[in-house]
Amino acid sequence: MIYGERVRLRRNERSDIPKFVEWLNDPEVHRYLLLGLPISQASEEQWFENMLKLPSNEQPFGIEVSEGEPDGGDGHWRLIGNCSFMAINWTTRSAEVGLFIGEKSCWNKGYGTEIMQLLLRLGFDNFNLNRIFLRVDEANKGGIRAYEKAGFVHEGRFRQGNFRDGKYSDMLLMSVLRTEWNPKK
Ligand SMILES: CC(C)(COP(=O)(O)OP(=O)(O)OC[C@H]1O[C@@H](n2cnc3c(N)ncnc32)[C@H](O)[C@@H]1OP(=O)(O)O)[C@@H](O)C(=O)NCCC(=O)NCCS
Repeated sequence: MIYGERVRLRRNERSDIPKFVEWLNDPEVHRYLLLGLPISQASEEQWFENMLKLPSNEQPFGIEVSEGEPDGGDGHWRLIGNCSFMAINWTTRSAEVGLFIGEKSCWNKGYGTEIMQLLLRLGFDNFNLNRIFLRVDEANKGGIRAYEKAGFVHEGRFRQGNFRDGKYSDMLLMSVLRTEWNPKK
């Protein structure tokens, strides 16, 4: 387990799959995710099997929030989404991160910011990475704000890098270098 102040990250279990199917088929949740078509229980089960074959640093984490004591005490932990490192390049020590919170009642409560801070800590302090980046649709204002709060800086723009709702949108590239990282954030 990787503990933050209000969230913790754990490995995914097969029993998480129905929640992922529910969330990732919700138009509001997948709006800015590069998913395309609806997903099925069977395709998510296939995803799970493939995921187990990934290097351990690239296996995703389930995100849980405590519904018990504010300090995370003995309360019940509830799954709200998933996050991961992707395509870690061990020569340049660079990796992409991604995250989604499927439980919409948990949006805009600071969890996205805290999860990104946890991933930065894991990436810099445990994986010894030098650069952590992400891509986000320019219209995903909540996501952009959360990543800025976590310390990501704007780096570039993939012009017309996404296509949704019948039109192109730009994808923003944001990153944090180890030298810029503020572990206290
Ligand atoms: C994007 C996502 C990860 C953000 O997580 P979150 O927990 O909602 O983010 P936070 O609460 O930490 O921060 C959101 C910030 O954006 C602000 N915000 C939300 N909607 C906004 C909008 N339309 N315009 C401007 N700011 C907005 C919030 O007020 C908050 O800022 P504040 O704390 O200064 O008030 C989450 O909403 C999510 O998973 N969405 C669905 C999937 C997705 O888009 N994933 C990301 C793909 S890159």
